[in-house]
Amino acid sequence: MTLPQHTTVAVIGAGPAGLLLARLLERSGIDCAVLESRDRTYVEQRQRAGILEQGTVDALREAGATARLEAEGIPHDGIELGFGGRRHRVDFPSLTGGRRVWVYAQTEVVKDLIALRLESGLPMLFEAPVHAVEGFDADLCTVRYTHGGEERTLTADYVVGCDGFHGVARTAVPEGASRTFERTYPYSWLGILADAVPAYEELIYAHSERGFALASMRTPIVSRLYLQVPNGEDPGNWSDERIWDELDHRLGADASWRLNRGPITSKAVLPMRSSVTEPMRHGRLFLAGDSAHIVPPTGAKGLNLAASDVTVLARAFARLHTTGSTELLEAYSDTCLKRVWRAEHFSYFMTTTLHTDPGQSGFETRLQLSQLERITTSAFAAGELAENYTGLPID
Ligand code: APR
Ligand code: PHB
Repeated sequence: MTLPQHTTVAVIGAGPAGLLLARLLERSGIDCAVLESRDRTYVEQRQRAGILEQGTVDALREAGATARLEAEGIPHDGIELGFGGRRHRVDFPSLTGGRRVWVYAQTEVVKDLIALRLESGLPMLFEAPVHAVEGFDADLCTVRYTHGGEERTLTADYVVGCDGFHGVARTAVPEGASRTFERTYPYSWLGILADAVPAYEELIYAHSERGFALASMRTPIVSRLYLQVPNGEDPGNWSDERIWDELDHRLGADASWRLNRGPITSKAVLPMRSSVTEPMRHGRLFLAGDSAHIVPPTGAKGLNLAASDVTVLARAFARLHTTGSTELLEAYSDTCLKRVWRAEHFSYFMTTTLHTDPGQSGFETRLQLSQLERITTSAFAAGELAENYTGLPID
């Protein structure tokens, strides 16, 4: 595959943001080209998120990309909060007017969108790292990339950085033209994939004196579980047995319930951080997804924020394409940032309420337990969690 010399929208990155944007633009008859630095196998195998909000499912449906999701996605109507030796269910539909979430791994979303892009024959190049983005403050953008050992350029009317936290697009913005707001957390997650049937119907978020644990899933026979660990923890310090024992302890296993165990097929330590870069647009350069913002995974917002960014952006490009109006493009950053900061706050709330900071005082622990108790005894407090978790409607 070679790329054209020029396209309307150059998309940097073939993660969920770049792939969904390309598909939505295709559905609006807008040409674009996708450049991805890694190879297809790497992109499709990266273990990431697993929860889709209703809005994300709607966007994938609009993109004609839900055939497998409809067949294999698992709808969930609630989660469980574990604390003080008990588990409490938070129901979503009754608190949100019917909203729910779906368990369907980001890896599968990426595979589905890549397959559709390849089937369309439209421009997409793997192993094509972009190293410069120029001209976005004028009328013609130039994207410089490498492929097959050759330096190449692609000109475009617009460029969208969907290249993640470590991408090049955000760094192309002139010094002083943007501000980044950040927070790092004094702990990380040890995440595992296991060939073990989940011993729970819905996700369990557990607060314990030894730290947070999350029981999630990928399929009816694959469990996805996480343990809070100190920053910089070496996964090699954790034998399979130690992981299962600690998960059981934090998730409240007892004589009547414990996790099903099985071979652990993936083990990795993930850092926890929040970050927002404002604005998300600079002239003809737009930032979407992780290239603009990062959330700690506790609120399951990363993938869903990427989907909502590109849904807003695709609508804006469609408006330009059909009417010539740049109104929605000009409003893109403000429109997205309202939702981004809401998701940042919810992710911060879930993270700081459920995790135990190293050296946390007894006073702070009791505040956490009081907040969790409030959620499980007040429909108003539970509703606030349910609305945020299932995702606010996309403007
Ligand atoms: N040139 C081309 N591609 C690049 C470059 C570059 N210079 N830098 C990064 N990329 C690619 C990465 O290889 C990756 O495939 O951009 C893609 C960015 O994808 P993601 O990091 O998945 O970001 P995004 O699409 O915004 O999706 C956000 O992914 O990382 C998770 O937790 C995050 O669930 C959230 C979701
Ligand atoms: C996951 O399944 O990977 C997952 C689910 C919910 C979260 C975070 C991660 O909050």
